[in-house]
Amino acid sequence: MKKVLIVYHSQEKGNTHRMAELVAQGCREAEGIAVQMINVNERRVDMDTAEQADAYALGSPDYFSYVAGNLKQFFDDILLANWGGRATTGKPYVGFLTHGGGGTAIGSLDRLAKATKLVPAAPNAICQGAPEAAQDVENSIALGRQLAEHLTKGG
Ligand SMILES: Cc1cc2nc3c(=O)[nH]c(=O)nc-3n(C[C@H](O)[C@H](O)[C@H](O)COP(=O)(O)O)c2cc1C
Repeated sequence: MKKVLIVYHSQEKGNTHRMAELVAQGCREAEGIAVQMINVNERRVDMDTAEQADAYALGSPDYFSYVAGNLKQFFDDILLANWGGRATTGKPYVGFLTHGGGGTAIGSLDRLAKATKLVPAAPNAICQGAPEAAQDVENSIALGRQLAEHLTKGG
């Protein structure tokens, strides 16, 4: 059983939470994938959980053209844990973002992922507001599906 850890921040309207649920739905379409979701606005990710994950799906709202602070904290934590000898970096990942009309924060997510040696498994998904339009729903599900396929096909 491969494990996908979905780490996201959602606070204002639940937009990113909704997107995370759709990404999880896409992951679960594949056989042999276990999904865990953690909203880092509610709790910090412990590094045992991070280490045990085979891949990450990382989501944030656009906050001042950057990822939300609690998701940044996750990147800090996995880097420091890796420096301490733990297998918390270097995994496949996908990124997703909700925004209010900007959306440039996706660049910061990618830079943090690159700095922590995460490997993109599929192009990021970006959504203005909540994922309600059919295309946004499909893009979010497809993101999870692509990550799961990457894992189950030996990526
Ligand atoms: C503190 C704060 C800063 C924000 N900064 C931006 C921004 O720079 N660009 C943008 O497009 N949206 C910005 N937004 C809007 C949020 O990114 C957007 O509403 C998002 O979908 C909220 O996600 P959530 O409901 O999951 O918390 C900001 C919202 C907050 C609360």
